[in-house]
Amino acid sequence: MQIIKSVEEMQTIAMQLRFGGNLISLVPTMGCLHEGHISLIRKAREKSDKLIVSIFVNPIQFGPNEDFSKYPKDWESDVEKCHANGVDFIFNPSAESMYPSGFSSYVGESFVSSGLCGISRPKHFRGVATVCLKLFNLVRPDYSFFGRKDAQQCAVIKKMVKDLNIPTEVFIVDTVRESDGLAMSSRNRYLSKLQREDALSISKALFKAKELVQDGVYNVDRIIAEITHMLSMKRRLRVIYVQVVDRETMEIAQKIESGTSMVCLAVWVESVRLIDNIIL
Ligand code: PAF
Repeated sequence: MQIIKSVEEMQTIAMQLRFGGNLISLVPTMGCLHEGHISLIRKAREKSDKLIVSIFVNPIQFGPNEDFSKYPKDWESDVEKCHANGVDFIFNPSAESMYPSGFSSYVGESFVSSGLCGISRPKHFRGVATVCLKLFNLVRPDYSFFGRKDAQQCAVIKKMVKDLNIPTEVFIVDTVRESDGLAMSSRNRYLSKLQREDALSISKALFKAKELVQDGVYNVDRIIAEITHMLSMKRRLRVIYVQVVDRETMEIAQKIESGTSMVCLAVWVESVRLIDNIIL
């Protein structure tokens, strides 16, 4: 396994791999790898000859008062996990090399990204789309892999890839959960014991919503009310949004359509912002 820090070197190596007839997979990450990332890496490994994992905490997707400076890092463990799971290259550029002084070109998706997290994190998806486009241009992966926990991010990337004819096939991999249901996230590391206990209500509320639909409750307002109620019972939780949306377009659903509608939510667990979702 090789660790590449230079943008130019990554581009050259990826080009050589491609000319050598290799199928390339890319798993973009911000590091602090957990089982969710590992499941992406495993899927990507199966599909390709060469597997590149990028580890880059992307400054331009964080707002001014967000957790960029304290975003968790675990470099040694990330390298070990990549090595153990058959990664060929870790791409770990510096912020200065990705965004040299004078950088001024951004990609904005304006439909899928406009609601949900796009409201409370106004420049977030512009930052995500920009870094992903840069990574796609550098690596030119045949396949790229993203986790469904970030459902809106997945929808934005798929839309950008389609709209801009980017030659990569995007795979969305199911959310991996802790045994008690909490969706895996690098930000779970911020949670205290008590915060984590309260955060469990997030997945419980989503599972409850799915159960209600299975029992024949197709009323969007009722589903949202149930979830909001369960979350508001916990002292440390503050709901940012709970919405039922179309899983591809992220448009607000008027009625629940099995397999197509998704509940997406974002919650403050005191100072920790978590998101989760479930397909109904
Ligand atoms: O999901 C993430 O970790 C990030 O948003 C991504 C896709 C790596 C872009 O920085």
